[in-house]
Amino acid sequence: MPFDLVLAIETSCDDTSVALVNSSREVVGLRSVSQDDVHAPFGGVIPELACRNHTMKLLPLVNEVLSQAGVEWDSIDGIAVTVKPGLIGSLLVGVTTAKTLAFIYDKPLIGVNHIEGHIHAPFLKFGEYSPPADFDYPFVGLCVSGGHTSLYHVKSLGKYELIGRTLDDAAGEAFDKFGKQIGLGYPAGRHIDDLAKGGNVAAFDFPRAMMKKGDLNFSFSGLKTSGSMLVKKDPSIAESSKSDLCASYQEAIVDVLVEKLQRGVVAAGVKRVVVTGGVSANSRLRLRLEAWALAEGIVCLVPPIQLCTDNAAMIGLVGLLRLNIGERSKLTLSPEAYLKVSELV
Ligand code: KG4
Ligand code: ZN
Repeated sequence: MPFDLVLAIETSCDDTSVALVNSSREVVGLRSVSQDDVHAPFGGVIPELACRNHTMKLLPLVNEVLSQAGVEWDSIDGIAVTVKPGLIGSLLVGVTTAKTLAFIYDKPLIGVNHIEGHIHAPFLKFGEYSPPADFDYPFVGLCVSGGHTSLYHVKSLGKYELIGRTLDDAAGEAFDKFGKQIGLGYPAGRHIDDLAKGGNVAAFDFPRAMMKKGDLNFSFSGLKTSGSMLVKKDPSIAESSKSDLCASYQEAIVDVLVEKLQRGVVAAGVKRVVVTGGVSANSRLRLRLEAWALAEGIVCLVPPIQLCTDNAAMIGLVGLLRLNIGERSKLTLSPEAYLKVSELV
């Protein structure tokens, strides 16, 4: 019997999220609670605080999503949960909760890879958003967040080729670390995005790394160091030229992301692209992607922000697809912090 409705749980980092997804790929319910306020005073995620907060938030959130959607346990066909990669304590809260619920309510369980979730997010239907009816595999997927910057050739469900990845920092980390240095709150990406709106993208000359022909990998540590040295040399510019500084710094990141996507579609020989992860909320990136896709005749999907940042709906969709091809996880399922070298996602 096909699986029609899945309850999904995502707790891989610092967002607690619960969703209901149906077999028409509709998000029937979604609630995500950010812990930004908890971690902001520390300028980064504190793993122990993250898992303690998941423990407090998760079960009430499950009840809230079910009651808001008017869904009873009887109508749920399975439970999907993020099993890897992520912070081990955070993953453990989600996986333990999902296993317990699966046991109590006698539902099939499926562990889902977080990155696989991200690259499937654009397939979801959520509010006003739905992908073009003919959008399908294969495509190039760019997952760009605080923890990841990876480029995949997505051939079909479960068939992914990693064609580019960051060799050091993730793009979101480059935003956050620089933002911290110029006195912006954590996470700084959205503040830099806002401040950049009034700034000159060419005011400062920041490096664009690994742009040698054919290279599909990323590196943001040089950019981070360059930003840091500039501000250390003349701290006054962090105040007097904040907008220009943000616009120029952001442009360096966006230039690299768009260029690598262009190389990715050439390497994979496809004309479809998906961009997800927290950084895909960036307004300048969205604008540049739109212009690039139009000029190159590419279908480029960037889902709504709630589906770009960490969320359980993307986990629910992959869980549903996998349950429907007969996959199940055992109740001995254990979270894994890292991906194995042989694993692409
Ligand atoms: O996917 P996400 O919510 O969590 C993970 O890192 O997995 O992504 C968070 C990242 C942070 O680095 C944050 O600064 C960045 O996404 N971000 C942005 C914007 N909104 C969030 N970066 C640039 N511009 C934005 N508007
Ligand atoms: Zn993520």
